[in-house]
Amino acid sequence: MGKDSLSIIDNRTDKTYELPLTNGNIRSMDLRQIKKDADDFGVMGYDPAFLNTASCQSKITYIDGDRGILRYRGYPIEELAEKCTFLEVAYLLLNGELPTAPELDAWVDLVTHHRMLHETTKAFLEGFRYDAHPMTMLISTVAALSTVYKDARNIFDLNSRRLNMVRLISKMPSMAAYAYRHSLGFPYVYPDDLLSYTENFMTMLFKMVEPKYVAHPVLARALDILFILHADHEQNCSTNVMRSVGSSQADPFVCTAAAAAALSGPLHGGANEEVLKMLDEIGTKANIPAFIDKVKTGKGKLMGFGHRVYKNYDPRARIIKWTADQVFAVTGKNPKLEIALELEKIALEDEYFVKRKLYPNVDFYSGIIYQAMGFRPEMFTVLFAIPRTVGWLAQWEELLTDPEQKIARPRQVYTGYEARTVVPIEERSQQPVAAL
Ligand SMILES: CC(C)(COP(=O)(O)OP(=O)(O)OC[C@H]1O[C@@H](n2cnc3c(N)ncnc32)[C@H](O)[C@@H]1OP(=O)(O)O)[C@@H](O)C(=O)NCCC(=O)NCCS
Repeated sequence: MGKDSLSIIDNRTDKTYELPLTNGNIRSMDLRQIKKDADDFGVMGYDPAFLNTASCQSKITYIDGDRGILRYRGYPIEELAEKCTFLEVAYLLLNGELPTAPELDAWVDLVTHHRMLHETTKAFLEGFRYDAHPMTMLISTVAALSTVYKDARNIFDLNSRRLNMVRLISKMPSMAAYAYRHSLGFPYVYPDDLLSYTENFMTMLFKMVEPKYVAHPVLARALDILFILHADHEQNCSTNVMRSVGSSQADPFVCTAAAAAALSGPLHGGANEEVLKMLDEIGTKANIPAFIDKVKTGKGKLMGFGHRVYKNYDPRARIIKWTADQVFAVTGKNPKLEIALELEKIALEDEYFVKRKLYPNVDFYSGIIYQAMGFRPEMFTVLFAIPRTVGWLAQWEELLTDPEQKIARPRQVYTGYEARTVVPIEERSQQPVAAL
């Protein structure tokens, strides 16, 4: 039986080192003992974009990218999407276990009663230009909540921490709806405590002058399922930001704003908006082959395809396709669906995509569903940020309660100049400017 360790021979010194393996991994700090001589800093791992570096131990979300598996706290995403509500899943992610019926009632009650925004937050939102992007408004408004709830800085006080986590989960849909209404120039709609999380959100978004807006139950459930699918995804770009900013002990509102900023980029949560733009650009099925050829020659990407972790089908994309059928039965088919299905079919058979293991990800179909439900593309990433707030907070709390964690501070490999002396300005000759 082999030992749980790695032996490394340093060919510069002929020394051998034995590094213990824990859960199959070495600790990068163990590499530092490997030195050329006493003055040497020691060996580090160089890993741009963290392709092979674990920054934490986590009990929250499990992904097996090769087998297309996603589980929250051990439960398969398919089962959670089928049997649970979003707030039930939120409870699971934050507390580690599914709630009992009384626990769920108390939790739903708590989240429901924190939906109101302070009137100064409303006034803050009103300061944005009429055409501001809702995601940028959301990012700034989440950060601004830190000015309202100053107790948020007490991150090591369990009660205060939990209260502010609930505030964030409750108020994200309210801020998202206000940002949306602002961009349309419509009056804001106050939350309604008698409605579920998604019904209330849809009411705050879509209510016009009718005495009572009633969200279609199939659409409200579809949104709830989409929220479940987006609630967490282990150490993705925005979660890494949440943990990184959180490691400096900043309050949860500014940490969440930073994570949301990371989410807004087109390679992350902004991808679903980009998918819609891409489908618009393609226009008709006849244009698909030319578009694919363009992508293959490096001119642009097939948005909604590819994933850092999934090198098989994204399991969320499969549930989204099922949800799409439910939504389209109510709304009628989104004409973009035909183009998307044909694009997927062609891409899945094309050597370029097959070889690179590029499959549709969660964003490929979510935008088409959101559009059919009446959301404008600028809202798609906002719709992602609402449920992901739960995942960010679960990961943030895990970070704060992990005795091994410290302020996140990566190393670098310096490749610039050695020390040099400043030449007086009149003696300097023009040098080519270093490429940025
Ligand atoms: C998600 C994503 C950022 C992952 O990136 P990554 O793990 O760093 O993968 P890489 O960029 O190294 O891609 C590997 C190869 O596939 C290609 N590739 C990756 N995604 C592609 C896409 N969507 N369309 C076309 N080619 C793609 C890359 O050009 C690269 O090709 P090469 O080996 O010839 O250079 C990337 O797939 C992407 O940009 N997808 C589109 C945006 C998107 O849908 N994001 C949502 C993610 S949930």
